[in-house]
Amino acid sequence: MTQALKVGIAGLGTVGSALFGAIASRHNLLAEICGREIVVTAVSARDKTRDRGIDLSNVTWFDDPAELARSGDIDVFVELIGGEGDPAHTCVSAALARGLHVVTANKALLARHGVELAGVAEEAGVLLNFEAAVAGGIPVIKALRESLTGNSITRVYGILNGTCNYILTRMQKENLGFEECLAEAQRLGYAEADPTFDIGGFDTAHKLAIMTSLAFGTRIASDEVYVEGISNISIEDIRAAEELGYRIKLLGVAQRTSTGIEQRVHPTMVPLDSMIAEVDGVTNAVTIEADILGELLLSGPGAGGDATASAVLGDIADIAKSRPGHQHGPALGRPAAHLEPYKRARMRSHEGGYFISLKVEDRVGVFAAIAAQMSKNGISLESIVQRPANGGSDLKTVILVTHATTESSIREAVEGIRGEGYVSGEPQVIRIERTKR
Ligand code: HSE
Repeated sequence: MTQALKVGIAGLGTVGSALFGAIASRHNLLAEICGREIVVTAVSARDKTRDRGIDLSNVTWFDDPAELARSGDIDVFVELIGGEGDPAHTCVSAALARGLHVVTANKALLARHGVELAGVAEEAGVLLNFEAAVAGGIPVIKALRESLTGNSITRVYGILNGTCNYILTRMQKENLGFEECLAEAQRLGYAEADPTFDIGGFDTAHKLAIMTSLAFGTRIASDEVYVEGISNISIEDIRAAEELGYRIKLLGVAQRTSTGIEQRVHPTMVPLDSMIAEVDGVTNAVTIEADILGELLLSGPGAGGDATASAVLGDIADIAKSRPGHQHGPALGRPAAHLEPYKRARMRSHEGGYFISLKVEDRVGVFAAIAAQMSKNGISLESIVQRPANGGSDLKTVILVTHATTESSIREAVEGIRGEGYVSGEPQVIRIERTKR
């Protein structure tokens, strides 16, 4: 049998500990499948004394992950530290430059430095695998990078953040408040260290930017994602959506348009009878629209130690199976130097339907004035309803659902309505996405 593949793990949190346990408990099975043993020989984490429920007696401990990357007796450096900057960036760069394969679950790092790191990996002739960086345990990177090669992709979208989906699902099913659901997600280990990353939509944006590159062959452009989070979604919005036949999900969408590629992350109305509306809790789902294949929906566990460890383990096993001269292709599906510049489609030209909720004074002419603003901006209405508003006996809530129109028309109509003096508070505007039923 070929020599054992020596693995060094940097970061022994929920994922690192689950991975360590999985490699140890499946030792014989992995050796049989890969034709060589996989052995964790070195680790690095912040606190050596912490009980993680794993036996570290036979591994070399490094206090400094960069030392593990530079001098550990390993073939593969597994980066589970997180964060776009140091130490993760230094460690991964050093490991690749030294000729080690790298497996990482770090979407922030790849969103920022992915093209550069893919280039370093190519130069060094090693693999940079990152299945766990997007949609947890779902094999979406392999699908985009390998399985769909040759297809032209028009749109890729999905639920990419388990924490947000967990929060929205609990709010909807149990009529609970946002904060309570967030605290529960954190307790269960789904949320990032800083929850703003999840609820602000930034974690989804990082994952989307990586998928965009793989789907469209463009350089990763994580600064060019339009981002709105879920913190201003209320239980009233969720109920109103439901009455009108929709569910609210935080979606990441990358779509080819006539002016460029849209990358957008925002709360989105999806039809109640669509498959994506049924994706509950921490589950993620990704839909890929490809010209040869048609539409592909992948769904599964998107966050948590075991789901992420499963994807990391698959990446390590791929390395164990590869042989010199028979390795997989470039990290981003095509050589880093051949990725095209990303051309952004402006959000103002986005086309789709919209849900708009307004708290308005209950007086003669308001309904007509709202309808007039819509008509003035060329917006056709699918429905318009009025009901008593929470928090003000003189106020009514008016909810509009539009047919397909442009973002710029909606913004102008909403500004026009606000300028007429009968609206109280901030209008709620949520985009509607065309989805597979
Ligand atoms: N915080 C992330 C989520 C973890 O909730 O999906 C996986 O990236």
